[in-house]
Parts: sequence; structure tokens; C-alpha cells
Amino acid sequence: MLARWYQEAVIYCLEVGSFQDSNGDGHGDLQGLIARLDYLSRLGVTCLWLNPIHPSPWRDNGYDVADYYGVDPRLGTLGDFAALTRAARERGIRIVLDLVVNHTSDEHPWFRSARSDPGSFYRDWYVWSAEEPSDRRQGTVFPGEQDETWTFDETAGAWYFHRFYRFQPDLNWSNHAVRAEIARIMGFWLELGASGFRIDAAPFVLEQTAPGVDPAPKDFTILEHWRQETQWQVGDSVLLCEANVPPSDVTVFVGSRPDGPTDRAQMLFDFLLNPKAWLALARQDAEPLVEALTTAVKLPAGGQWATFLRNHDELDLSRLTDEQRGDVFRAFAPRDEMRLYGRGIRRRLAPMLRGDRRRIELAYALQFSLPGTPVVRYGEEIGMGEDLSLPGREAIRTPMQWEDGPTAGFSSAAPAELVRPVLRRGAYGAKQVNVRTQQRDPNSLLRWFENLTHSVREAPEIGTGTCSVVDVPLPRPVLAHRFDGPTGAILLLHNLADAPVTVDIGRLPGMSAEASDILVDGPYDPPGRQLRGLALNGWGYRWIRLSRTA
Ligand code: BGC
Repeated sequence: MLARWYQEAVIYCLEVGSFQDSNGDGHGDLQGLIARLDYLSRLGVTCLWLNPIHPSPWRDNGYDVADYYGVDPRLGTLGDFAALTRAARERGIRIVLDLVVNHTSDEHPWFRSARSDPGSFYRDWYVWSAEEPSDRRQGTVFPGEQDETWTFDETAGAWYFHRFYRFQPDLNWSNHAVRAEIARIMGFWLELGASGFRIDAAPFVLEQTAPGVDPAPKDFTILEHWRQETQWQVGDSVLLCEANVPPSDVTVFVGSRPDGPTDRAQMLFDFLLNPKAWLALARQDAEPLVEALTTAVKLPAGGQWATFLRNHDELDLSRLTDEQRGDVFRAFAPRDEMRLYGRGIRRRLAPMLRGDRRRIELAYALQFSLPGTPVVRYGEEIGMGEDLSLPGREAIRTPMQWEDGPTAGFSSAAPAELVRPVLRRGAYGAKQVNVRTQQRDPNSLLRWFENLTHSVREAPEIGTGTCSVVDVPLPRPVLAHRFDGPTGAILLLHNLADAPVTVDIGRLPGMSAEASDILVDGPYDPPGRQLRGLALNGWGYRWIRLSRTA
């Protein structure tokens, strides 16, 4: 079977506005990103997921779109976007866009027309209620910032539904004109060279909302329709769903039949594994991961998980019990200001792990070894920190730190003109943490990350093979799992605690005489034929190739 690019990809998520400014206006832009493609190419990433780039009032970091067919003027032009996809393609890098179509901005011309004229063609593109809905205060997503999901609009003389903030009215997905328009929008960006879409808030898009109806039924044929339309247009384009749903509700996002091939979105963020990985790291105990991997939902053929440790939102721990969440909070977000919505953490990974290089390596080696396609957020490769003086989720959206200096090489504008302040103070400020310094240092985290991305690409079994936990007695902090795929078999050992250990794995099925380490945290004796007495440093990791068939 042909390799599918998304199963062997390394995805890098970035905000264009915070990455690199090319024209000195204090905002990152597409030309700036183009200038940094060689950096990304050397890093070894093969796909960029761009957070929203469309014209927007930016009241929710662009997740409030005012024109789906445009590029926000601060970020560039449509011409710049076409230049980006071309320049990226030349380097073997694909571009995936955020598709935010659960809602629009209330400044979108569709909503302006809908609210101001009951006879408007766009009136029925949104979800209205003439009466005050009984469930008006239910189903909010950002507790503390948002206290209702229906708001009365004076101009319209009616209530409108908004799953998120009140300035984000939900589109009415029961309306076939809406469906047809969004399909056209996807086609437009594919034509400009995009390789797919991250479907923002997917479960909510599918909901057929009506006042007082809870839970609203979901129409999954929308995903099938999108899949057909996008794949018809660009055969290897992909859909990646953001769907933080319980295990029983997962497969339907990927396929209409659990035993059939994927015919909806090809990819799904692994919101089930993510909190378990953090719990395991907090407790220094592999058990939560063993449990997660052995009970993992099996996706329809061709369906793929996207793994992550941190993303652009809060680290959502709502799937853990109170006790488990308490353990993660205590370990990684001890102060109140580090937490959000009573359920999450608004920090970057490096400070969560106290800047301990060994733990940072362990955490990312572990993520990259989990079943699926790894997704990394910009700046993680150099160990950037957060700015807790910024409100809410802004804390982890500070400009990329390219070098030392007042604007960290992000922009030639004055520091006060920047889209967000550069992190300057403390152990994670631009003086201590920046790309240029790390490029000069062969032992830097950046150089290590480059090695990681290339190692995972040389271990395609992780993206395409079958994962199983190795069932032998092990010290509690050690996770041992393996992948078997058409190209061979690999064994992955991770020690989640700081005490060195020795593990006995024994001879494994499918193992050739030539087992050898492919990614390690330090020098180890070769694994030998029996995999006995294998040393593992504190926070150590060893990826061992057991066999290679191709
Ligand atoms: C995104 C958030 C955004 C929200 C509303 C979420 O799914 O990840 O960043 O605020 O959607 O669009």
C-alpha cells in the first residue's frame, strides 16, 4: 500500500502573527513565515498547521472569522499565501489551515445581514429563537469568561446561539446553503495549495442545535460530505478533527463503520491519551499510559491519531478524576495563576518541567513514540516559556524567540508595537532561550529536536504500525511498548522517573540478531540479543530497532 503522508508526518503548529514579522509593523506575517521555511525544513517538520489567518476582529485570536475567502491584511495577502504553499512544497512541507466554521465573527457580513433583516438570505444561516431558551445558561465552554450560550440581539429582536463567546454566533448547519458555502471555501484554499484542514470544534459543528434540545443530535454526514468534496478535489488532502469527546464517541468522527475504512476525517487529535500522558509524567508511573494504550480506541483503517503534549489552548485535564487532576496540578501548575477554567493549565512544557533538559527530552521522546502523528507547537523546540502576566490562553502565544534583543528578532518594530510582548525576563526570556544561540550549540535542545524529528521519520512503524505494550515485569516508572509494521519492528523504553534502572525484556518475537539503539538519551551498551540487563538512565529513553524488513 502507498504510504500516506499524514501517517508519517511531523506537524508544527504556529500562529503566523506571532512567528516572524517581515515588514516591521509588529505583526508576524506570511512573508516572514516564508523566510523561516528553511529553519522549519531543517527542524524536520513536514506539515505546518496555521492557526486562523483570515480577516478577523481578533477577539479570539482569529477564531472569530470575518471573511473566509481572505487573508487578514496584517498577515499578508492571498498572493502571499499562494507563495507560501509553493515555497513550502519545494521543501516537502505541507500547509494545513484551521477551518473555524462552527461560528463566524459577529462582524462577518453574513451575520450583519442576518441580524438586521428578518428577510435576509442569511437570516437562516444562524440559529435563532424568538423566545428566551430554557437552556440559555447551559453548555458554556469557557467557564468564568462566558456565562450563557444564547444571547438576545437587540437589532434582530431575537436570541441567537453561540457555543463559544457571544461575539461568535453559531452557523446553522441544518441549512444546506451553509454546507454548500463551506465546501466552496474549502475548495478555494485547496486550490491555493493547502493540503487540508484542522476542523475547529468539530463536535459542535455537527450539532443540530435548537432551543431547549439537549443534547442536540449530531449529523455526521457533514464529515462524509467534506471528505468526498476535499478528496475529489485534492486526492491526498486531509481533515484533522478537534473533537475532545469520550472514548465511545470517537470513531464516528473518522468512519461511518468501525470495521470499514475511514470515510470521514482521516485524523483526530488524541484528547484521550494526552491527559493520561501528563498524569503518568506527574506520578512518575507508567500505569496511566499502559492503561490508555491497552484500552485505546481502534480507529477505522486509514484513520490516524494526532498526538500532542501542549497546544494553543489550555492543557485540558477535564477527563481526569479530581484526584488525578490534583496530582497533575500539584506537579506542573502549583500556583492558581497557572491554571484556567478550573480544569486546565496555561503554561508551556519547558517551565512545567522546571526547565530540566532531561525531563523535556523524555517528555517529547515519549510523545513522539506514541501511536499517531506528532504535533508540536512553535517554540517548544527551543524550550520557550509562558508569560503569566498575559490574560488566559494568551500566556503561551508570545512571539517566537529567534535571537536575543528587545524584540527577539521577531520584528524590527519598537517593542511597544508588537502584537504581544516578547518574553524578556527570567529563565525563559529571549536572552536565555532563542534560536540563534541554540543553532551555535551542537548540544542544544533545538539540535536535539532536529534529531528527534528525523528519528521518528526513520521509524515509520510509529505512524503506521500496530502498537502493543510489552508485557513483562518492569519498575513502575518504565513504559515499554513496541510497534510492528510493514517496515519492521521497534521497541521503545521510557523511564518516567529520575532513578536509573535496569530492565529485563527478554527475547521478543520478531527480533532480528541486529537489534540496535536508534534514539537514546546517552551512551548505552548495545542491547544484545537477549535484551537483558538493559540500562536506562533517570528520565532516560531508548528507541531500539528490533528488525527492519525493507
Ligand atoms: C479552539 C479555541 C477557540 C475555540 C473557538 C477551539 O476549538 O481550539 O482556541 O477559542 O475553538 O473557536
